[in-house]
Amino acid sequence: MSYSQQEAPLLGALRRFAASPAGRFHVPGHGGCSAPRDLEDLLGPDLFKIDLTELPGLDDLGNPTGIIERAQRLAALAFGADSTFFMVNGSTGGLQALVTACSRPGGRLLLPRNIHRSVLGGLLISGAEPVFLNPWIVPGFNFAAGVCRAEVARGLAEHPGADALLLIHPGYYGVTGDTKNHAALAHETGMAVIADEAHGSHLHFHARLPADALSLGVDAAVQSLHKTGGSLTQTALMHLRGKRIDRARVAGALVLLQTSSPSYPLLASLDAARRRMALEGEGLLQEKLELAQALREKLNAIKGIEVFGGEHLDGDGTYDYDPLRVVVSVRGTGLTGYEIAGLLAERYGIFVEMADRQNLVLVFGFGINAGHCDKLLEALHDILVREARPTGEEYNLCGQAPAAATVMAPREAWFALGIQLPLEETAGRISAEWLGVFPPGIPALIPGEAINREMVEYLLALRTAGVNVQGSSDPSLKTLRVIDG
Ligand SMILES: Cc1ncc(COP(=O)(O)O)c(C=O)c1O
Repeated sequence: MSYSQQEAPLLGALRRFAASPAGRFHVPGHGGCSAPRDLEDLLGPDLFKIDLTELPGLDDLGNPTGIIERAQRLAALAFGADSTFFMVNGSTGGLQALVTACSRPGGRLLLPRNIHRSVLGGLLISGAEPVFLNPWIVPGFNFAAGVCRAEVARGLAEHPGADALLLIHPGYYGVTGDTKNHAALAHETGMAVIADEAHGSHLHFHARLPADALSLGVDAAVQSLHKTGGSLTQTALMHLRGKRIDRARVAGALVLLQTSSPSYPLLASLDAARRRMALEGEGLLQEKLELAQALREKLNAIKGIEVFGGEHLDGDGTYDYDPLRVVVSVRGTGLTGYEIAGLLAERYGIFVEMADRQNLVLVFGFGINAGHCDKLLEALHDILVREARPTGEEYNLCGQAPAAATVMAPREAWFALGIQLPLEETAGRISAEWLGVFPPGIPALIPGEAINREMVEYLLALRTAGVNVQGSSDPSLKTLRVIDG
């Protein structure tokens, strides 16, 4: 069968279908023409016409044999995969399914400690035990990059029979480890390699970006196309390559874990974004690379500000970086990343992807233009003139959670009897819950981890700073759920 990246089978079918039906005796209940009026005014009537279900000719995401299968095949060809799955619950759903498909109760999964919470969800389902590898913390910037070669080698040597190795490529800050080396080492032991590539769906389409995880040899990669590829929020892709991972098992896990009513507008957005990336991705990315480079230079010229770039790579834990993700350390300004992000939003209507104590993370999506960069620079200058403070110790605090030892499998701890204790009294206990700062949603504490004094102090600092903590049974962080006994 021949394929052309000019095609968008799902998009085309929805367009045709929207014009045709004589009667719609099926869900969704708005019937394509009777949505709440205010919603229709906001979203436009066409969206409801294509908000369809598994009707004849529209295929079935759970068992695709028609237009969805063709759209997935086109995506596999565009991204260099053997097969690709469309997903409607983000990379979150894909990672949960992959972990479930690739690990088992009593098995072990090697993974960096800065995993996204979705991987923790997968572990709770599969019952596998995590073997954490320490990510490299970038000196001066204090964020987690990739895992160093020696740390991966240690993990593989100590746990040769583990079910799989999971890598993050790249992390939230756009930095990767030496994924090619890690994948090759794991493959020597017969282990499958999974990449959480939630932030890297664009990498395949421009030579100046880090190589994508599949090209570097991993067996499966999960990508949030909505984050960097232009599809609608919640949509993601999972690519498989080679024979180490059982495709049927992954497909089975996806069907169990995702909704049985996938949204056709979301699926069509994957089809359209794939087509645009395949046909125009390189040119679009080139434009944004030039803009990002110009902004980097101007930001670096501001006193107190330093941008992460090629000069910070060390050939190991910081092996490569995505220049479209601009990580700005504001440590020398006396203000925290949280404070600057808040001021940018409140006073100037400028929103960044994320802030931590010392950094801002800017994502160069397809919508960014030179005017946006100028406004950001002006606003930053203004903030620094009006608000900058002398730098002191209190602003140099590391934003990373302290290390915690796993003393019980996360699944066992999650299902064990728990009691709620005042946070101040939890040192020496075992956590029965996870929690982490959002964004990025990386767990600071995982069920089954021992809580030490340092962790209590870190959580007290989060409570005082009033940052958005997710996952905790008590969002005020006054109490924590710990194992009883
Ligand atoms: C490293 C990482 N993995 C996975 C995810 C989950 O992606 P999604 O929001 O598409 O479910 C995120 C989300 O921010 C992430 O940062």
